[in-house]
This record gives sequence, C-alpha cells and structure tokens, in this order.
Amino acid sequence: MAHEQMQAPDNTAVRTALWRAMHLQVDPPPHVIEDEIGLQLAAPGDDWRARPDMDPQATSGFRAAIVARARFIDDLIAEQTDRGVTQYVILGAGLDTFAQRKPELASRLRIFEVDQPGTQAWKRHRLVELGYRIPDWLHLVPVDFEASEDWLKKLATAGFDASRPAVIVSTGVTMYLTKDATAATLRQIAGLAPGSTLAMTFLLPTELLDDADRPGLQTSRRGAQASGTPFISFYTPLEVLALAREAGFEDARHVSGALLAERYFADRTDGLRPSSGEDLLLATT
Ligand SMILES: C[S@@+](CC[C@H](N)C(=O)[O-])C[C@H]1O[C@@H](n2cnc3c(N)ncnc32)[C@H](O)[C@@H]1O
Repeated sequence: MAHEQMQAPDNTAVRTALWRAMHLQVDPPPHVIEDEIGLQLAAPGDDWRARPDMDPQATSGFRAAIVARARFIDDLIAEQTDRGVTQYVILGAGLDTFAQRKPELASRLRIFEVDQPGTQAWKRHRLVELGYRIPDWLHLVPVDFEASEDWLKKLATAGFDASRPAVIVSTGVTMYLTKDATAATLRQIAGLAPGSTLAMTFLLPTELLDDADRPGLQTSRRGAQASGTPFISFYTPLEVLALAREAGFEDARHVSGALLAERYFADRTDGLRPSSGEDLLLATT
C-alpha cells in the first residue's frame, strides 16, 4: 500500500469539493454545510472560481444539490452514531472531509474511505502536508471497483468487522460504474451485519428531470465525457429499489432530491435550490 503511486483525484471529485467550498463563499448564511477543507486539499490555483463549472449562477443548482446530499449524509451519520453504529464506510470517498470536519463525532467511529489507489495515495499525502493527522480510526483503503477487486476483503484487512453493523455511503459514484458493478456491490452490502444502512446516490434518466434542469444535465454529461469520466449508468427510482430488493436488503426506500430540497432549502430567501437529477437509495439489512 505504501508504494501506491500518487495520482491527482478525478475531476469529478475535485468539482464536488469545490462546489462545497463555493457554497460558503458565494451563498449567504445559513449554510447547509461548511466544508472548505476539500478546497484546501485540491489547491486548484487562484483562478478556480473562473472555471465555467464554477459559475455562481449557472451552476447554482448543482452546487445546491451537492451540499444537500452532503448534509443528508452528515445527518445520517450523526443519527446512526447515536443508534450505536460504530463503522462508517465511504465508497468513492474522493475529497470527503467528514473525518477532518467533525473529529469529535468521527472519532467515535471507525471510518473506512474507499477510492482508487492513486487517489488514496494522493489524499494521504495532501492531508499530511496540510497538517492533518491520520488518526488510527481513519483508514484509507485503495480499491478499483471495476477491477473485480474484493473491496470487502480489503476492508477486513484494514480492520472492518463484518459481524457488526455499519453505515455505507456512496455519493456521486454509481453514474461512473457499470450496472453490473453496482449490483455486485449492492449484494455485498446486503450481506453485511443486520442493522447496517446504505445511502447511495444515483442519476435519473433525462425524462424524469424537471424540464428546466435538462439542459444542465446535458452540459454536465458532455463535460463528464470530455474529462474521461463519462456518466454510463442512470436509474429510475423503481429500478434502483428493485436492484436493492434483489440484492437482499430487508428494506429499501427512495429519497428524492426534491425531499432534500424541501428539508434543507425551504426557508431560504436567496432562491438557492438544488437541481433535480440525482436521488438517493436508503436501504437497510
Ligand atoms: C464525483 S466523485 C464523488 C466523491 C465524493 N463521494 C463526493 O460526494 O464528493 C466520484 C469518486 O468515485 C471514485 N471512483 C470512480 N470510479 C471508481 C472505481 N472504479 N473504483 C474506485 N473508486 C472510483 C472516484 O475516484 C471519485 O473519487
């Protein structure tokens, strides 16, 4: 593991981190989430705010959707920790900064961040460079989901206890993976200890988007393709629920982006509102 080559993270992971930071910089309070550590990790250079994908107006819906899902996960982890769950697995963690932002809560957990080997090596290096300790409860586990690697085995080697419940989170990942890879991951998670919870985002097919959000999705689709990380998988809510049930989950619920918008944005007076296009699966074993 120590010999893994460092590789700057995917554009996709940097973009979501920058949107989280931008929320603090351009949107008035109250902030749905406060996260500038991803920006520090990415260190994108002084002109990052001039990038077209950072246009404060044109991409405000995406920015809002990203902070909404991040806040939903923060709230879920707080709730699960109160229930006594002690293991938190972040699949496709990218520049996730929960461990650095919420050290008190995080240190009550064992956190396993899973991502591509090069990204993990880079993140470890950047965290140390910025003066963040990598505590013994935080494990960066290198895995390529498409390489038929047994990520559960790798988790176990890193100290994950499959006999105890866990909360597993995957945000912004399924659109880059084949449906077969995601179905296999779902089956593995469904086999975890009873009382485990999965929260996983998925992209909706264009026809299920609000009309106003369709051009935005087309633009981000083209951008993803051009950056070498094309969106390859879209799901209807019914399809994702069926996949979860087939995988063996006890319970599976669809959490719509609209519900998150209502929960976290209803009282805002600045017009900031998440775009439609990404929903969540919340499933329990
Ligand atoms: C859009 S980012 C999401 C990062 C973070 N979860 C968030 O919400 O900001 C997608 C992440 O999935 C990871 N990823 C994509 N394909 C992967 C694969 N085949 N194996 C492991 N990780 C992968 C990327 O490296 C990247 O960090």
